[in-house]
Amino acid sequence: MANRTIMAAGNWKMNKTPAEASAFVEGLKPLVAGATTEVVVGVPFVALSGVLAAAKGSNVKVAAQNVHWEANGAYTGEISCGMLKEMGVEYVIVGHSERREYFGETNEMINKKARAILNAGMLPIICCGETLTQREQGVTAEHVRYQIKVALLGLSAEEMMKSVIAYEPIWAIGTGKTASDEQAEEVCAIIRQLLVELYGTEVAETTRILYGGSVNAGNAKVLFGMPNIDGGLVGGASLKHDGFTAIVLA
Ligand code: PGA
Repeated sequence: MANRTIMAAGNWKMNKTPAEASAFVEGLKPLVAGATTEVVVGVPFVALSGVLAAAKGSNVKVAAQNVHWEANGAYTGEISCGMLKEMGVEYVIVGHSERREYFGETNEMINKKARAILNAGMLPIICCGETLTQREQGVTAEHVRYQIKVALLGLSAEEMMKSVIAYEPIWAIGTGKTASDEQAEEVCAIIRQLLVELYGTEVAETTRILYGGSVNAGNAKVLFGMPNIDGGLVGGASLKHDGFTAIVLA
């Protein structure tokens, strides 16, 4: 297996005020200072400034949870890659199932966002995953392959290797119902095989693929130990110091 650095990325979603967010990261820093894992916190836009200041000089990296693909213009309420880059944001989560479901994001939009993020010098964490119905219909592999194939259109091999993919079965998000390590590994392996087809072995072996969906202190170690799982995108359990630290150190 290639030497991929495990990533523990928190996705706070719509939680924590700016003051709470900065205080959380101040408290998190010493707890994860010795981690060999790459530590990322995905915070609300309004908390980015304070969290970036709090994280400065530490091993805690900062992600935004969304972005618009256009550089500027008449897009009321939106945030551009240039704005995030200037602040010092490194990663942007794109294509989360909640954004697809509640805000109508399509694979094509996610592709535009991923390209804009890379063009701006940041790195996308591209999410995919099937519904329970799709799993029961036996179309998980087809669905996830389609999502990822479209999301990656136009990305060069070099861009691909820097990007991160997160497999998050929708039925496992926020439900406490984690995919089994075999289920998670199976789909992450399918995604890696797709990368082999699209980019060849070297890119496929370098690109990190995370699992997300009810990751917690108890299951992270086994999940992150699977051959094709390179860490986790963590929602609920990333909101508390003890839970997230345990995942980081797993
Ligand atoms: P969860 O969320 O860990 O609360 O299931 C994961 C995610 O949506 O990224």
